[in-house]
Amino acid sequence: MSSPRDPDLAAVLDAHKAIAAALPSITVKPLFERCHTALEAPGTPNFRHQPQKIPVCNHITEGLRVTTAASPGLARLADAFGRLAPKLAWQRREGLQAKDPRFVDSHANATLIGHDGLERHNSVRLGVSLLAPGVEYPDHQHPPEEGYLVMSGGDWRQDHGEWFRRDPGGTVHNVPDIWHAMRGGEAPLLALWMLWMGD
Ligand SMILES: [Fe+2]
Repeated sequence: MSSPRDPDLAAVLDAHKAIAAALPSITVKPLFERCHTALEAPGTPNFRHQPQKIPVCNHITEGLRVTTAASPGLARLADAFGRLAPKLAWQRREGLQAKDPRFVDSHANATLIGHDGLERHNSVRLGVSLLAPGVEYPDHQHPPEEGYLVMSGGDWRQDHGEWFRRDPGGTVHNVPDIWHAMRGGEAPLLALWMLWMGD
């Protein structure tokens, strides 16, 4: 028997799904569709999950203000995410080589769905990254295919190429193991990442 999903997590997923459904036919769309289909069956609650806030989280409010202003669909996402954010365990990512000394205290990640999230799920991992304005999250790679849904805008790059801008509601599709990095703009960067972990 599956357990009920946290209502604020359910609202974030509903808003994400609606934004994904309205995307044109771009390569990330089938990934989002596959993940949302898998997420129709909730995972199991993670009873060990404990909320955690770190100082950089003070940027969340400003990031969500940018998201809210972008469109009604993003305002719905920002509203749900604003309610969910205090329940998340915001953490620094360890082990990345950052050129920018500000990185350590100017970024945070939190897992919504995954082994260290509010809900464990076999097929999908969903999380969020936060960067203070102008701060770069260094190049990294991972085997699972990934789709970012950009909430508050910023810059991305893939394969050590040129930086490209993504505004609120934009997406980035990372095929397995591609190198990628991101960078906050004038506003804090907030982006949801969705990973396909397999059948
Ligand atoms: Fe990634």
